[in-house]
Amino acid sequence: MSDKFVIRSAGPKDAAAILALVRELAEFEQMLDEVRATAADFAHELARPHPVVHVLLAEQGGQVAGFALYFFNFSTFVGRKGIYLEDLYVRAAWRRQGIGIALLAELARIAALEDCSRMEWSVLDWNEPAIRFYESLGAKGLDQWRQFRLTQPAIAALSAR
Ligand SMILES: CC(C)(COP(=O)(O)OP(=O)(O)OC[C@H]1O[C@@H](n2cnc3c(N)ncnc32)[C@H](O)[C@@H]1OP(=O)(O)O)[C@@H](O)C(=O)NCCC(=O)NCCS
Repeated sequence: MSDKFVIRSAGPKDAAAILALVRELAEFEQMLDEVRATAADFAHELARPHPVVHVLLAEQGGQVAGFALYFFNFSTFVGRKGIYLEDLYVRAAWRRQGIGIALLAELARIAALEDCSRMEWSVLDWNEPAIRFYESLGAKGLDQWRQFRLTQPAIAALSAR
């Protein structure tokens, strides 16, 4: 692992590698039983003319070391686009080499190019190493906000009202 790593945008052909990374992150977060996504789902989304989801892959010597998966949102308060980072994961053997920072630095360059006002993400409250990592980059936890989620069958019930 002496080669320098590279960061590149993923395409539909990377779908199986992306799913493997998503599953590893879910396992780390003790949520593997919640993963329903298939490689075909990622291939389908990334093959759209204007994909909603975007993926940065970190590779070293042809091996996939980690990824960042993101999409754009919009702040009505600021009146500008933002980036929502859905997943960030560096495989254990590649950690503490600067790959996590390189993935987020690339995302910050994309945010600047796209004139985004914010980069945001969620972290599980027990994931202290990741919290320290984010704080080391100057990110602040938003303690006054709580996340809400509507899933099936509540979506179906709401849509019928
Ligand atoms: C969090 C994660 C993405 C960091 O990636 P990484 O490639 O290891 O991070 P980097 O090498 O770029 O770290 C750069 C700096 O961040 C800080 N940092 C990184 N990991 C840290 C940790 N575990 N504890 C404290 N500081 C940390 C350090 O300042 C580090 O610099 P140093 O190694 O010179 O001390 C990676 O550890 C990971 O994938 N963890 C498991 C999954 C996870 O928690 N994902 C985030 C979910 S929200």
